[in-house]
Amino acid sequence: MAGRVLLAVGGGAAAIKAPLIVRRLAEAGYRVRVLATERALAFTTELALATVSGRPVATETGWFAPSGRVLHLELAEWADLVLVAPATAADLARAAAGLAEDLLTAVLTAGPPRVVWAPAMNPRMWADPAVQANVGRLKARGHAFAGPASGAMAGVGEAPGPGRMLEPEELVEHVRYHLTDKDYAGRRVLVTAGPTREHLDPVRFLSNPSSGKMGYAVARAARDRGARVVLVSGPTALEDPFGVEVVRVESAEAMREAVLARYPSAEVVVMAAAVADWRPAERRDEKEAKLGEEKHLRLVRTPDILAELGARKGDRVLVGFAMETHAGPERAFEKLRRKNLDLICLNYPTDPETAFGAEENRLLLIDPSGRTEALGRAPKRVLADRLLDRVRRIMQ
Ligand code: C5P
Repeated sequence: MAGRVLLAVGGGAAAIKAPLIVRRLAEAGYRVRVLATERALAFTTELALATVSGRPVATETGWFAPSGRVLHLELAEWADLVLVAPATAADLARAAAGLAEDLLTAVLTAGPPRVVWAPAMNPRMWADPAVQANVGRLKARGHAFAGPASGAMAGVGEAPGPGRMLEPEELVEHVRYHLTDKDYAGRRVLVTAGPTREHLDPVRFLSNPSSGKMGYAVARAARDRGARVVLVSGPTALEDPFGVEVVRVESAEAMREAVLARYPSAEVVVMAAAVADWRPAERRDEKEAKLGEEKHLRLVRTPDILAELGARKGDRVLVGFAMETHAGPERAFEKLRRKNLDLICLNYPTDPETAFGAEENRLLLIDPSGRTEALGRAPKRVLADRLLDRVRRIMQ
């Protein structure tokens, strides 16, 4: 899945983050080369960029070195994707005009397969009609944009607004999206993630430690593979993934409503949420005083969303998760049967390395014939892709 990324660093204050972008891209498995515009080198250094990328940096002066290489053509051919980060208003204008007067615009004019811009400029500049016109022209040529985000701006006393470059991790996510094969193109995937909260009163609730990371990883992986993804999420600390319709809910009942409303148009449903099984029989409107030494709670069952989906499954592929502390495979298989699933993914919550909130997980996939497939310990994103590989085989 990896590929070759040319990071073209433009001349904005956000260029100080360029070495970190290189590092994050390399960690994600990409081969990275760096091009720095003359102005970029006023903010960051050639030495820093060469050190993190492990290769010489392509610069304006290097371009015209008598090396016998035609650097702009070589770079355009080498790169699977050019990420311009940060991109200034001037970079956008030169590229939109098709100038090839400096190394960056010469590379872009030489036709690399994909170009992704990460603009970084003052919000007033970003809003300027000339800048927006240039963005429109580049989009019309098939260039993509990552950001800008809203946030704090360079310059004393500048009001926050859209114009801030995305963080390195977010840029890597955009790169991954553009470099992933679209084997789920047009598929409609519904994912649930995170815990639910069942309130006793406005400030107290029953819940569980689910972080939502596994479900979000599935949603991102499906998006990268071209699916139209709806993510129904319980309360989590995670950012909304770009390009995914995120529906935030709190209780099991609210999750049920959100899921059922989107079920008719879903082809694949991955229920990764750790839905609370019980809720307090009553919810008080006001916080209750803590009187007495003992308190009895009466709990009632929450709706089993997945069982309800299974009862009217149609042609959909339905995937559930199971989290067991003992007799895992047997109990998971029984759930698969009872809820009419195509696949169930067994978690190991008592294993400290793959417990709630961990970055890594391992799963045992079980199908209706009882056949199992063990997915060994790996980052949740890797497991999400392997799960989607399996779902695709079921769909065919
Ligand atoms: O029965 P159990 O809770 O162990 O089943 C787990 C699977 O069922 C998970 O996929 C979970 O998202 C789903 N579930 C649900 N509604 C509930 C409880 C669990 O959809 N009330």
